[in-house]
Parts: sequence; structure tokens; C-alpha cells
Amino acid sequence: MGKLRVAVLTGGTSSEREVCWMSGRKVMGALDPARYEARCVDLAAITGERAADLARLLFSRNDDTHDRPSEETSPDGMPDVVFIALHGGMGENGTVQGLLELIGLPYTGSGVLASALAMNKIMAKKIFEREGIPTPKWVPVRRSGSAAAEAVLERICLPCIVKPACEGSTIGVTIVKTEADLEEALDTAFDYGPEAVVEEFLEGTEITGPVVGNDDARALPLVEIVPGSGFYDYKAKYTPGATEEIVPARVPEATAARARELTLRAHHALGCRGISRVDMIATPTEVYVLEVNTIPGLTDTSLVPRAAEAEGTSFPELVNRLIELALEGRPGGGPRRAS
Ligand SMILES: Nc1ncnc2c1ncn2[C@@H]1O[C@H](COP(=O)(O)OP(=O)(O)OP(=O)(O)O)[C@@H](O)[C@H]1O
Ligand SMILES: [Mg+2]
Repeated sequence: MGKLRVAVLTGGTSSEREVCWMSGRKVMGALDPARYEARCVDLAAITGERAADLARLLFSRNDDTHDRPSEETSPDGMPDVVFIALHGGMGENGTVQGLLELIGLPYTGSGVLASALAMNKIMAKKIFEREGIPTPKWVPVRRSGSAAAEAVLERICLPCIVKPACEGSTIGVTIVKTEADLEEALDTAFDYGPEAVVEEFLEGTEITGPVVGNDDARALPLVEIVPGSGFYDYKAKYTPGATEEIVPARVPEATAARARELTLRAHHALGCRGISRVDMIATPTEVYVLEVNTIPGLTDTSLVPRAAEAEGTSFPELVNRLIELALEGRPGGGPRRAS
């Protein structure tokens, strides 16, 4: 059997472009050349081109961000599968997934609907509430709304946290301790889009629950996050050593069991597939779901690779598994297997 042709789609134009490259490079490095013929492509270089040309472009463009020698392009120039190493923006919100659906190419991770729902914190929180999944008390705010700050303070107590509705990597997020700071925090969030979410700020243990699998999805060990600075912001996420990641999370077993249950419920409530990572805060009385990431970071400092490693799954094995899951149920995609 020939090698599986994998296009690693990375880069792009979102505010997390640099993080995408970190994930993309790591995935390229993990693909065994004896098993895969891999190409890396920057989404930014191909957006705007005709959709019908995308499939060929995906597999014919090389880049110099990895040291693997370039190989012959396959005769029809089509990849067998697309590994999406894109965070935020069009790569994670269902847009790229829709394009790949249109072309008919299998891809890693969630489909159009789950991607779109998870990327929008307002829509995701509505579903969590409908499904009885605890999530911090919240109010949506629109950029066009008037007297937003006063209206928010009637419903949410301080301290609170303000986030753009559709971002990641803590970009545009501010913890607000005084009334006077709320307006500016909303303006910061609106720099990234027309909708923001204001949430009650929860004191507790921050944990994240990775999930791997399709219908048979299972929770990986919980990771506890302890940022040295006290806030898990962009710097704390991507500076080696800035944050302590403890696996398994140091929470009582009842809390861990509740977190694992909510992790899987949140993953399924949004209809996720392949992989996700559910961010949570555990207070002494309850576990609250902050959000679901459908394309969690795969960088050197990222949490999913840490959790996988803790249960004995190496990074290349994780990448292999995500490709298998992308091909599951397709002709030639291999047998269904319990993960
Ligand atoms: N309600 C809350 N109470 C306390 N801390 C919070 C709350 N919401 C968010 N945080 C903190 O802010 C961080 C970023 O929030 P969140 O995960 O919602 O945003 P994000 O930018 O989408 O992150 P990601 O990089 O996971 O995509 C969290 O990891 C957590 O440390
Ligand atoms: Mg998060």
C-alpha cells in the first residue's frame, strides 16, 4: 500500500496565526515519512482562490518551515486527508471545514456545525444551559448596544471577565475588578468582533479535559493549569515554563469524575468529532464549563499533548489517531476501533 498523503493546513489569517504555525510544525515533525507523504500549506496563501482549485493547491505547494526533503507530488495532486492545524478564525469556526466538505476531502476534527457552535461562546453557552451543563453566569453584549456597561452591572457582579465571543488564546480577554474598568474591557473585546461575553469571574481550580474519539469519544486525563502570573493569558499559554501543567489535576476524585462527565457531555452537546478540549473551573461546590475548543493547541506548551503523554500516548501516536478518526467510516479508512 502506498503512503497516505496528508496536507497539514496551518498558518492562516486569524489572530492565532503564530500559534497555528507552532502546531503545524509540530504535526509535520510527528508524521512518519515511512507512512505518510506530508505537505504543509499556509491557509493564507490559498484563501480567495477558487474552491475547486484548493484540493490541488493543498498538495502541490511546499513550504520551508520543516526540514523534510520535498517529495514528488502525487499524479493527481490530491491529498487523502487534511490535518487542520488552525486555531481561531476561519480555520476553527467551520468555514474551512465547509470548504473541505464541498471538495469532499476528509479532515481532522469536528465538522461545520460543531466548529461554528464551539467557536461562538454565546451559542455554546446557550447549548450548555439547554443541556444542564453548568457554565458561569453570563451576559452577551453587542458592540452596537448602548449603555452596555450599566446594563451588564445590573446582572453580573464584580469581579467579572470580558471576552470577545469568537476568539481564542485569551486574546482580547480582560479580568475586570472595578466598575470603571468595564467600558475599556468591552472596547478591547470589540476590537476582535461585534459580540462580547461578560461572565462572572469564578475563583477555583482551572482544569481542562481533552477528549479524543468519534462516537466512542473518551476523556483523557484532566490537566490542572497553574499560571505563574495568576492569569492564563497568551504569554502564560505559550512561554515555556510560564505555567505549571499538572496531570492528573489535583482535585478530589468526586470533582474529577464530575469534570470528566461534563467534558464528554459538552463535547457531545456541541456535536464534536475527533478531538476537543473542554476548559473548566472547579469551585468547591461545582465544576463549570467555560468553553470547548475544537482544535486545541498542539504546540510544545499545549495541554492535549501533555494529557496524552501522561497516559502513555506519544505525540506521533496522537497525530496518527486523529488521522485515523478523520478517515473512520470512509471507504478504505480502516476498521472502527475502540479508542
Ligand atoms: N468565568 C471565568 N472565571 C475565572 N477565570 C476565567 C473565566 N473565564 C475565563 N477565565 C480565564 O481566562 C482564560 C481564557 O478564557 P477562555 O478559555 O474562555 O478563552 P479563550 O481565549 O477562548 O481560550 P483558548 O485559548 O482556550 O481558546 C481561561 O483559561 C481562564 O484562565
Ligand atoms: Mg480556553
